[in-house]
This record gives sequence, structure tokens and C-alpha cells, in this order.
Amino acid sequence: MATRTVSETDQSNEQLKFETSIDYEHNKVSDAESYSRRWMLIHTDVKYKYESYLPHYVPGLQPSLEEFQHEDVGLRADLNKTALLTAPGSIFEEITPAIGTEVHGLQLSSLTPTQKDELALLAAERGVVIFRGQDFADIGPDRQREFGRHFGPLHVHQHGGHVKDYPELLPVYRDFTAGAVDNEIKDNVSSIKWHTDMSYEINGMGTTIFYSLSTPESGGDTLYLSTTAAYNALSEDFRERLHGLTANHSGFAQAKVADHKERYIREPIETVHPIVRTHPVTKTNSLYINRLYTRKIQELKNEESETLLNFLYNHIEHGQDWHIRVHWRPGTVVVYDNRVTQHSALRDFNVKEGETKRHMLRITPQAERPYFDDGAARG
Ligand code: SIN
Repeated sequence: MATRTVSETDQSNEQLKFETSIDYEHNKVSDAESYSRRWMLIHTDVKYKYESYLPHYVPGLQPSLEEFQHEDVGLRADLNKTALLTAPGSIFEEITPAIGTEVHGLQLSSLTPTQKDELALLAAERGVVIFRGQDFADIGPDRQREFGRHFGPLHVHQHGGHVKDYPELLPVYRDFTAGAVDNEIKDNVSSIKWHTDMSYEINGMGTTIFYSLSTPESGGDTLYLSTTAAYNALSEDFRERLHGLTANHSGFAQAKVADHKERYIREPIETVHPIVRTHPVTKTNSLYINRLYTRKIQELKNEESETLLNFLYNHIEHGQDWHIRVHWRPGTVVVYDNRVTQHSALRDFNVKEGETKRHMLRITPQAERPYFDDGAARG
């Protein structure tokens, strides 16, 4: 790149600010700006590789989601997962006994349908499966969406910015400007927000794909935990007390975004789910409450519910025995089962204006309506 004078550098920074604004769609280049824009295109190589994956906002009202019957693809899988685990050149490494497997030497983009079914089973068993060195970010939105559809109908966020023409592809994006509008963490002392994705929906989220497009050099990791291991750590008597209790999960707080964008929105809802749910493939039980969306245990009085929920949140969130942390590298893709895990982004990174981006993409297949099977609990 050519050496710049101070004034040229200033001009470049001005333009970079424009380029990194979250409001890409509505910032049209005015005549007055066109000279500096042309200058920048000639003098720098800043065109962002994943620009087409930036959040796109369109006005409009989405239809409400209707409950549907879900048959999980993991039910078709060979219990030994032979096609997946013995794929030539692949290495599968368990991270901890409770959660997480890291995979090398296997491209998600070339999995067969049978291997994808087995991946659904593996994600249900391990909670989180981390694939390194993937070409997935570069196979294009059509193939990415098709991959996600294998696992279930794809969720469209209730007020999402999405990839243009692909409402099922959800960018999770932060830069110097976008960091300022993160309404979920702005009043908190840390960025930790443990949750299961959109647990207020009627059909829950299933085998979910999350991948990095551009990440900070340091920080910006994602934390994951196993709600199955957290359930199993409780005494049998305590678990029995939880069986059959239900709680409401609300999407109203999340829907209150105040960034004045014209969004493709859906009316927020509240749904009651069991606080212990059974996985349809593994038949294991997990705790199904989270601090972000769960509000009250329906069968208890307010103070009782608050006390029990707080005990359970603290139990889930503090048991490092069932936690892992994923550091994103170029080419990392995580496949996690939302039914048996919670996660939290870390917004611990320094954001340099015009330089730092944390740009992730999520594809979120929906699964069954959460249920509790007393028979499964008794074994
Ligand atoms: C999420 O909370 O769903 C995204 C997690 C992340 O950005 O790491």
C-alpha cells in the first residue's frame, strides 16, 4: 500500500468511519462525498470481503410462527455415527467429558446427508461441536442456507437484520458504531448474557450453525455450557421436584430495540415451556430456563419462583465443570444443539474505529416444541 501523508490518512479514516457504520443500507454516497470515496477506492484496498453478509434491514411485518410437528434428523442416525466419525482424514477430540468436541480434517460443506444426520446426533450428545479450518464461510448463502435446512425449518428472527435476500441468515455484527446499540448489555457490568436462542418461540431451536466471518485478534470468544450436565449434577430429590414445573419465556424485552431502523418484525410473544425438557433423540433431560428470556415458574408464587430460578441460574452459570470457551479463528464453525446448551457472547474486545469487526453468522433450524417425558426421566 502507498505511503500516506497525515492529511491523506485523516481523509481515509473519515471514509472508513462511513464504511463501518452499521447503517450501510441508508448511507447513500452524496455528491460531496463521492470525491473522497473515489479517492479511498483508488488509494486503499478496504473493500470488505463479507460486505454482502452485513445486516440488512427492510420494513415489514412477518407472519406469526405456527406450531409444527418436528421429526429430528438425529433419529435417523446410526448410533455409532460411523460415517461421520470414521470419515477419512478426520480427527475428533473430546474437549471435556461434559461438553464439546473439536473436529479437524473434515469439511462440513462436503458432508453427505447420512453424515449430517450423525452430526445432529453428535451435537445432541456433546452439546457443541467445533469445526476448524472450514471453507463454509465462502460457499455462498444458498449453500449455507441449504446446509441449515437439513436440520429443520429455518427460523427468521423476530426483528432481525438479516443477510440481504436471505432472512434465514442472521448476522451477529459489532463494530465501532454498532457496539453502541447493543441494548441487551448496555446497562450491565459485564457482557455475559447466558441464554438459549429465542426460547420464547413455540417450537424451540435445534441443531444450530454459527460461524465467524471476521473476528477481533484478541477476545470476542463465545462461552458455551451444557444444561444436561447441569441437570445431572442436581440430587435426585431436587430433580424430581423440578419435573413437571413450567415457566413462561418472553420475547418482549428483546423486541424493544430503539435504533430507529425499519425492521422486518414479528409481534413478540410469550410461551410456557417445561423447566426440564427431554431431548427427542438422546432421551436425556436438561434444564430449560435462562436469565434472558425466562420470567416465572407458573406453579409457584412470585417469591418462590424468583428464589428457585435464581438458584438454578447460578447453578447453571457457575458450574465450570460443564462450561467451555470457543476462541474464533478464521474458518471456525460451531454446530451446537440449542436444546441442551446455553451460550454467551463476550464483548470484551477493543474496537478500533474503522478496523475492528466482530462479524458472525447464525443459521438456526427450529426443532420440536419442548416437552418433558416423565418416562425418560425414570430411565
Ligand atoms: C448469540 O448470543 O446468539 C451470539 C453469540 C456470539 O455472538 O458469540
